[in-house]
Amino acid sequence: MTRVKNTDRIHVAVVYGGRSSEHSVSCVSAGAIMSHLDPERYHVIPVGITQDGTWVVGEHNPERLRIDGRTLPTVTGGQALTLAIDPAHKGEFRYADGPQVGELYATADVIFPVLHGRFGEDGTIQGLFELSGVPYVGTGVLSSAAGQDKEATKKLFQAEGLPIGVDVVMRGRTELTEAEKDLLGLPVFVKPACGGSSIGISKVSSWEDFPQAVNLAREHDHKVIVESEILGAEIEVGVLQKPTGEVVASVPAQLVGTDASEEGFYGFDTKYLEDVVAAHIPAPLPEHHIEHIRSLAVEAFHALNCEGIARVDFFMTAAGPVLNEINTMPGFTPISMYPQVFAASGIDYADLLGLLIERALVTHGPKD
Ligand SMILES: Nc1ncnc2c1ncn2[C@@H]1O[C@H](COP(=O)(O)OP(=O)(O)O)[C@@H](O)[C@H]1O
Ligand SMILES: [Mg+2]
Repeated sequence: MTRVKNTDRIHVAVVYGGRSSEHSVSCVSAGAIMSHLDPERYHVIPVGITQDGTWVVGEHNPERLRIDGRTLPTVTGGQALTLAIDPAHKGEFRYADGPQVGELYATADVIFPVLHGRFGEDGTIQGLFELSGVPYVGTGVLSSAAGQDKEATKKLFQAEGLPIGVDVVMRGRTELTEAEKDLLGLPVFVKPACGGSSIGISKVSSWEDFPQAVNLAREHDHKVIVESEILGAEIEVGVLQKPTGEVVASVPAQLVGTDASEEGFYGFDTKYLEDVVAAHIPAPLPEHHIEHIRSLAVEAFHALNCEGIARVDFFMTAAGPVLNEINTMPGFTPISMYPQVFAASGIDYADLLGLLIERALVTHGPKD
Protein backbone atom coordinates (compact mmCIF):
# COMPACT_ATOMS: atom_id res chain seq x y z
CA MET A 1 0.00 0.00 0.00
CA THR A 2 1.39 3.39 -0.87
CA ARG A 3 0.84 6.08 1.62
CA VAL A 4 0.63 9.71 0.71
CA LYS A 5 3.08 11.58 2.93
CA ASN A 6 1.41 14.20 4.99
CA THR A 7 3.10 17.41 3.95
CA ASP A 8 1.40 19.43 6.67
CA ARG A 9 3.46 21.16 9.29
CA ILE A 10 4.93 19.08 12.09
CA HIS A 11 2.85 19.39 15.25
CA VAL A 12 5.17 20.11 18.15
CA ALA A 13 3.81 20.01 21.69
CA VAL A 14 5.91 22.40 23.75
CA VAL A 15 5.50 21.16 27.31
CA TYR A 16 6.67 23.59 29.99
CA GLY A 17 6.35 24.74 33.60
CA GLY A 18 6.22 21.71 35.84
CA ARG A 19 6.64 20.82 39.48
CA SER A 20 10.30 21.63 39.92
CA SER A 21 11.89 24.69 41.47
CA GLU A 22 12.79 25.74 37.93
CA HIS A 23 9.15 26.16 36.88
CA SER A 24 9.51 29.78 35.82
CA VAL A 25 12.79 29.27 34.00
CA SER A 26 11.03 26.59 31.99
CA CYS A 27 8.22 29.02 31.13
CA VAL A 28 10.72 31.59 29.86
CA SER A 29 12.59 28.94 27.83
CA ALA A 30 9.30 27.73 26.33
CA GLY A 31 8.27 31.27 25.35
CA ALA A 32 11.57 31.74 23.52
CA ILE A 33 11.26 28.35 21.79
CA MET A 34 7.70 29.01 20.66
CA SER A 35 8.67 32.34 19.18
CA HIS A 36 11.65 30.82 17.33
CA LEU A 37 9.90 27.76 15.85
CA ASP A 38 9.52 28.36 12.13
CA PRO A 39 5.75 28.77 11.60
CA GLU A 40 6.08 27.48 8.03
CA ARG A 41 7.34 24.14 9.29
CA TYR A 42 5.94 23.74 12.77
CA HIS A 43 2.57 24.05 14.39
CA VAL A 44 2.97 24.73 18.12
CA ILE A 45 0.75 23.00 20.66
CA PRO A 46 1.37 24.72 23.99
CA VAL A 47 0.94 22.48 27.04
CA GLY A 48 1.60 23.90 30.49
CA ILE A 49 2.14 21.96 33.70
CA THR A 50 1.21 23.83 36.86
CA GLN A 51 3.38 23.84 39.97
CA ASP A 52 0.94 21.28 41.39
CA GLY A 53 1.42 18.99 38.39
CA THR A 54 -1.83 19.56 36.48
CA TRP A 55 -1.40 19.54 32.70
CA VAL A 56 -3.33 22.37 31.06
CA VAL A 57 -3.85 24.09 27.73
CA GLY A 58 -0.82 26.35 27.52
CA GLU A 59 -0.22 29.94 26.60
CA HIS A 60 -0.64 30.64 22.90
CA ASN A 61 1.09 33.99 23.13
CA PRO A 62 4.82 33.52 23.84
CA GLU A 63 5.07 37.20 24.73
CA ARG A 64 3.35 36.37 28.01
CA LEU A 65 6.07 33.89 28.94
CA ARG A 66 8.68 36.56 29.64
CA ILE A 67 10.30 37.95 32.77
CA ASP A 68 8.61 41.24 33.52
CA GLY A 69 10.92 43.25 35.76
CA ARG A 70 11.44 40.83 38.63
CA THR A 71 8.13 39.03 38.05
CA LEU A 72 8.60 35.49 36.76
CA PRO A 73 5.97 33.81 34.57
CA THR A 74 4.14 30.73 35.87
CA VAL A 75 1.55 28.30 34.54
CA THR A 76 -1.71 29.18 36.23
CA GLY A 77 -5.04 27.44 35.68
CA GLY A 78 -6.30 26.63 32.22
CA GLN A 79 -8.33 23.72 30.95
CA ALA A 80 -6.91 20.41 32.18
CA LEU A 81 -5.41 17.91 29.72
CA THR A 82 -4.12 14.36 29.71
CA LEU A 83 -1.68 12.69 27.36
CA ALA A 84 -2.76 9.26 26.13
CA ILE A 85 -0.42 6.55 27.39
CA ASP A 86 -1.75 3.99 24.93
CA PRO A 87 0.59 3.88 21.89
CA ALA A 88 -2.49 3.34 19.71
CA HIS A 89 -3.33 6.97 20.57
CA LYS A 90 0.18 8.31 20.61
CA GLY A 91 0.64 12.03 20.94
CA GLU A 92 -3.03 12.66 21.73
CA PHE A 93 -3.82 15.33 24.29
CA ARG A 94 -7.43 15.23 25.49
CA TYR A 95 -9.40 17.53 27.75
CA ALA A 96 -9.55 16.16 31.26
CA ASP A 97 -12.36 18.33 32.64
CA GLY A 98 -15.13 20.72 31.66
CA PRO A 99 -17.81 20.23 29.02
CA GLN A 100 -15.28 18.95 26.48
CA VAL A 101 -13.90 16.21 28.73
CA GLY A 102 -12.51 13.35 26.61
CA GLU A 103 -12.47 15.41 23.42
CA LEU A 104 -9.24 15.87 21.50
CA TYR A 105 -7.25 19.08 22.14
CA ALA A 106 -4.45 18.22 19.70
CA THR A 107 -2.27 15.39 18.44
CA ALA A 108 1.46 15.93 18.64
CA ASP A 109 3.92 14.40 16.16
CA VAL A 110 6.69 15.16 18.60
CA ILE A 111 6.98 16.53 22.11
CA PHE A 112 9.52 19.15 23.14
CA PRO A 113 9.72 18.84 26.92
CA VAL A 114 11.18 22.21 27.84
CA LEU A 115 11.29 21.20 31.47
CA HIS A 116 14.13 21.58 33.90
CA GLY A 117 14.77 19.69 37.10
CA ARG A 118 12.62 17.17 38.89
CA PHE A 119 9.73 15.53 37.00
CA GLY A 120 10.92 17.11 33.77
CA GLU A 121 14.62 16.51 33.24
CA ASP A 122 15.03 13.50 35.52
CA GLY A 123 13.68 10.66 33.37
CA THR A 124 10.18 10.53 34.85
CA ILE A 125 8.38 12.34 32.06
CA GLN A 126 10.69 10.70 29.50
CA GLY A 127 9.37 7.36 30.83
CA LEU A 128 5.83 8.56 30.19
CA PHE A 129 6.71 9.51 26.61
CA GLU A 130 8.34 6.12 26.07
CA LEU A 131 5.20 4.38 27.29
CA SER A 132 3.00 6.47 25.08
CA GLY A 133 5.24 5.91 22.05
CA VAL A 134 5.42 9.58 21.13
CA PRO A 135 8.76 10.93 19.84
CA TYR A 136 10.34 13.54 22.09
CA VAL A 137 13.27 15.90 21.96
CA GLY A 138 16.27 15.12 24.10
CA THR A 139 17.74 12.36 26.04
CA GLY A 140 16.16 9.15 27.36
CA VAL A 141 15.23 7.81 30.78
CA LEU A 142 18.61 6.63 32.06
CA SER A 143 20.66 9.62 30.97
CA SER A 144 18.04 12.10 32.17
CA ALA A 145 17.95 10.46 35.59
CA ALA A 146 21.73 10.20 35.82
CA GLY A 147 22.23 13.79 34.68
CA GLN A 148 19.80 15.11 37.24
CA ASP A 149 21.54 13.46 40.19
CA LYS A 150 24.90 15.11 40.83
CA GLU A 151 26.23 12.03 42.64
CA ALA A 152 25.32 9.68 39.77
CA THR A 153 26.70 12.12 37.21
CA LYS A 154 30.05 12.35 38.95
CA LYS A 155 30.30 8.59 39.39
CA LEU A 156 29.72 8.04 35.67
CA PHE A 157 32.24 10.75 34.77
CA GLN A 158 34.75 9.20 37.13
CA ALA A 159 34.20 5.74 35.68
CA GLU A 160 35.17 7.13 32.27
CA GLY A 161 38.29 8.78 33.72
CA LEU A 162 36.93 12.31 33.24
CA PRO A 163 38.26 15.05 35.57
CA ILE A 164 35.98 15.90 38.51
CA GLY A 165 36.40 17.70 41.84
CA VAL A 166 36.39 16.40 45.42
CA ASP A 167 33.04 15.75 47.09
CA VAL A 168 31.28 14.02 49.97
CA VAL A 169 27.72 12.74 49.74
CA MET A 170 25.50 13.06 52.84
CA ARG A 171 22.52 10.77 53.25
CA GLY A 172 20.47 11.52 56.34
CA ARG A 173 23.31 12.95 58.45
CA THR A 174 24.00 16.67 58.93
CA GLU A 175 27.58 16.47 60.24
CA LEU A 176 30.82 15.82 58.40
CA THR A 177 33.59 13.84 60.07
CA GLU A 178 36.84 15.65 60.84
CA ALA A 179 38.55 13.60 58.12
CA GLU A 180 35.94 14.74 55.59
CA LYS A 181 36.38 18.37 56.64
CA ASP A 182 40.13 18.03 56.13
CA LEU A 183 39.59 16.40 52.76
CA LEU A 184 37.22 19.11 51.54
CA GLY A 185 38.76 22.23 53.12
CA LEU A 186 36.94 25.55 53.13
CA PRO A 187 35.04 26.99 51.41
CA VAL A 188 32.66 24.25 50.32
CA PHE A 189 29.60 24.25 48.09
CA VAL A 190 26.59 22.52 49.63
CA LYS A 191 24.03 21.35 47.09
CA PRO A 192 20.88 19.27 46.83
CA ALA A 193 21.97 16.20 44.82
CA CYS A 194 19.03 16.77 42.50
CA GLY A 195 18.57 20.43 41.82
CA GLY A 196 19.18 23.06 39.23
CA SER A 197 19.37 26.78 38.59
CA SER A 198 21.50 27.06 41.75
CA ILE A 199 18.39 26.71 43.93
CA GLY A 200 19.23 25.38 47.41
CA ILE A 201 22.99 25.81 46.88
CA SER A 202 25.16 27.66 49.40
CA LYS A 203 28.81 28.55 49.52
CA VAL A 204 30.00 27.93 53.07
CA SER A 205 33.16 29.60 54.32
CA SER A 206 32.92 28.64 58.00
CA TRP A 207 31.94 25.25 59.44
CA GLU A 208 29.58 27.08 61.83
CA ASP A 209 27.33 27.88 58.87
CA PHE A 210 27.43 24.34 57.51
CA PRO A 211 24.33 22.81 59.21
CA GLN A 212 22.15 25.67 57.99
CA ALA A 213 23.37 25.12 54.43
CA VAL A 214 22.64 21.38 54.68
CA ASN A 215 19.13 22.13 55.92
CA LEU A 216 18.55 24.52 53.03
CA ALA A 217 19.75 21.93 50.50
CA ARG A 218 17.52 19.30 52.16
CA GLU A 219 14.45 21.40 51.38
CA HIS A 220 15.08 20.32 47.79
CA ASP A 221 16.56 16.85 48.14
CA HIS A 222 17.23 14.54 51.04
CA LYS A 223 20.59 13.64 49.53
CA VAL A 224 23.13 16.44 49.80
CA ILE A 225 26.46 16.75 48.03
CA VAL A 226 29.30 18.79 49.53
CA GLU A 227 32.07 19.88 47.20
CA SER A 228 35.44 21.54 47.63
CA GLU A 229 35.61 24.91 45.98
CA ILE A 230 37.08 24.70 42.49
CA LEU A 231 38.93 27.82 41.43
CA GLY A 232 38.70 28.70 37.80
CA ALA A 233 36.59 30.39 35.17
CA GLU A 234 33.23 28.78 34.44
CA ILE A 235 33.03 27.36 30.94
CA GLU A 236 29.89 26.03 29.27
CA VAL A 237 29.76 23.94 26.11
CA GLY A 238 26.72 22.90 24.11
CA VAL A 239 26.51 19.39 22.71
CA LEU A 240 24.17 18.55 19.86
CA GLN A 241 23.45 15.26 18.16
CA LYS A 242 22.51 15.93 14.59
CA PRO A 243 19.78 13.97 12.81
CA THR A 244 22.54 11.84 11.23
CA GLY A 245 23.69 10.77 14.72
CA GLU A 246 26.88 12.84 14.62
CA VAL A 247 27.63 14.44 18.01
CA VAL A 248 29.15 17.92 17.89
CA ALA A 249 30.33 20.32 20.58
CA SER A 250 29.83 24.06 20.26
CA VAL A 251 32.49 26.62 20.88
CA PRO A 252 32.82 27.10 24.66
CA ALA A 253 31.47 30.13 26.51
CA GLN A 254 33.33 31.60 29.45
CA LEU A 255 31.09 33.25 31.99
CA VAL A 256 32.19 36.61 33.27
CA GLY A 257 31.09 38.22 36.52
CA THR A 258 29.69 35.07 38.15
CA ASP A 259 31.28 36.15 41.43
CA ALA A 260 30.40 39.84 41.12
CA SER A 261 26.87 39.40 42.40
CA GLU A 262 25.47 39.61 45.90
CA GLU A 263 25.34 35.80 46.03
CA GLY A 264 29.09 35.52 45.33
CA PHE A 265 28.63 32.71 42.81
CA TYR A 266 26.48 31.89 39.81
CA GLY A 267 23.25 31.73 41.79
CA PHE A 268 19.62 31.96 40.73
CA ASP A 269 19.35 35.75 40.96
CA THR A 270 22.63 36.19 39.13
CA LYS A 271 21.48 33.81 36.42
CA TYR A 272 18.07 35.25 35.76
CA LEU A 273 17.38 38.49 37.56
CA GLU A 274 20.54 40.54 37.86
CA ASP A 275 22.14 41.95 34.81
CA VAL A 276 25.66 41.09 35.90
CA VAL A 277 26.77 37.95 34.09
CA ALA A 278 28.09 38.19 30.61
CA ALA A 279 29.97 35.64 28.61
CA HIS A 280 32.88 35.57 26.27
CA ILE A 281 31.91 33.42 23.31
CA PRO A 282 34.16 31.77 22.33
CA ALA A 283 36.04 31.56 25.63
CA PRO A 284 39.35 33.43 25.39
CA LEU A 285 41.45 30.31 25.90
CA PRO A 286 44.35 28.89 23.92
CA GLU A 287 43.24 26.71 21.03
CA HIS A 288 44.53 23.47 22.60
CA HIS A 289 42.43 24.11 25.75
CA ILE A 290 39.37 24.82 23.62
CA GLU A 291 39.79 21.57 21.70
CA HIS A 292 40.41 19.64 24.92
CA ILE A 293 37.24 21.07 26.52
CA ARG A 294 35.16 20.33 23.44
CA SER A 295 36.31 16.72 23.31
CA LEU A 296 35.69 16.32 27.06
CA ALA A 297 32.16 17.67 26.53
CA VAL A 298 31.46 14.98 23.92
CA GLU A 299 32.98 12.31 26.21
CA ALA A 300 30.77 13.54 29.08
CA PHE A 301 27.73 13.32 26.78
CA HIS A 302 28.56 9.69 25.99
CA ALA A 303 29.48 8.85 29.61
CA LEU A 304 25.82 9.40 30.48
CA ASN A 305 24.55 7.85 27.25
CA CYS A 306 22.90 11.14 26.29
CA GLU A 307 20.91 11.65 23.12
CA GLY A 308 20.16 14.78 21.16
CA ILE A 309 21.16 17.52 23.53
CA ALA A 310 23.20 18.49 26.58
CA ARG A 311 25.09 21.41 28.03
CA VAL A 312 28.30 20.46 29.78
CA ASP A 313 29.74 22.84 32.40
CA PHE A 314 33.37 23.07 33.45
CA PHE A 315 35.76 25.02 35.60
CA MET A 316 39.00 25.97 33.88
CA THR A 317 41.54 25.47 36.69
CA ALA A 318 45.26 26.08 36.64
CA ALA A 319 45.66 22.31 36.26
CA GLY A 320 43.23 22.04 33.34
CA PRO A 321 39.49 21.68 32.86
CA VAL A 322 37.36 20.04 35.58
CA LEU A 323 33.79 18.94 34.91
CA ASN A 324 31.07 20.48 37.07
CA GLU A 325 27.81 19.13 35.70
CA ILE A 326 25.72 18.21 32.70
CA ASN A 327 22.28 19.55 31.89
CA THR A 328 20.18 17.30 29.70
CA MET A 329 17.60 20.01 29.02
CA PRO A 330 19.55 23.24 29.17
CA GLY A 331 17.89 26.62 29.38
CA PHE A 332 16.55 28.13 26.19
CA THR A 333 15.81 31.61 27.50
CA PRO A 334 16.93 34.54 25.39
CA ILE A 335 20.02 34.87 27.64
CA SER A 336 20.71 31.13 27.98
CA MET A 337 24.10 29.84 26.93
CA TYR A 338 22.96 26.81 24.90
CA PRO A 339 21.37 28.73 21.99
CA GLN A 340 24.09 31.38 22.17
CA VAL A 341 27.05 29.01 21.91
CA PHE A 342 25.48 27.32 18.90
CA ALA A 343 24.72 30.67 17.28
CA ALA A 344 28.44 31.39 17.66
CA SER A 345 29.16 27.99 16.10
CA GLY A 346 27.08 28.79 13.02
CA ILE A 347 23.73 27.22 13.98
CA ASP A 348 21.12 29.84 14.78
CA TYR A 349 18.29 29.39 17.28
CA ALA A 350 15.62 28.36 14.73
CA ASP A 351 17.94 25.90 12.95
CA LEU A 352 19.00 24.43 16.29
CA LEU A 353 15.35 23.74 17.16
CA GLY A 354 14.84 22.20 13.72
CA LEU A 355 17.81 19.84 14.17
CA LEU A 356 16.65 18.77 17.64
CA ILE A 357 13.13 18.03 16.40
CA GLU A 358 14.40 16.20 13.34
CA ARG A 359 16.70 14.07 15.50
CA ALA A 360 13.75 13.20 17.76
CA LEU A 361 11.70 12.11 14.76
CA VAL A 362 14.56 10.01 13.37
CA THR A 363 15.21 8.15 16.62
CA HIS A 364 11.70 7.71 17.90
CA GLY A 365 9.58 8.13 14.81
CA PRO A 366 8.04 5.60 12.46
CA LYS A 367 10.76 3.90 10.44
CA ASP A 368 8.70 3.51 7.24
N1 LIG B 1 32.69 23.07 43.57
C1 LIG B 1 32.45 24.32 43.20
N2 LIG B 1 33.45 25.26 43.21
C2 LIG B 1 33.22 26.54 42.85
N3 LIG B 1 32.02 27.03 42.49
C3 LIG B 1 30.98 26.16 42.47
C4 LIG B 1 31.14 24.77 42.81
N4 LIG B 1 29.95 24.16 42.69
C5 LIG B 1 29.09 25.10 42.30
N5 LIG B 1 29.68 26.32 42.17
C6 LIG B 1 29.00 27.58 41.78
O1 LIG B 1 27.60 27.41 41.95
C7 LIG B 1 26.92 27.44 40.70
C8 LIG B 1 25.78 26.42 40.68
O2 LIG B 1 26.28 25.11 40.90
P1 LIG B 1 25.88 23.89 39.96
O3 LIG B 1 26.56 22.68 40.48
O4 LIG B 1 26.18 24.26 38.56
O5 LIG B 1 24.34 23.75 40.23
P2 LIG B 1 23.03 23.88 39.31
O6 LIG B 1 22.71 22.48 38.88
O7 LIG B 1 21.99 24.40 40.23
O8 LIG B 1 23.37 24.78 38.16
C9 LIG B 1 28.01 27.18 39.66
O9 LIG B 1 27.68 27.73 38.41
C10 LIG B 1 29.20 27.88 40.32
O10 LIG B 1 29.12 29.31 40.18
MG1 LIG C 1 25.01 24.75 36.92
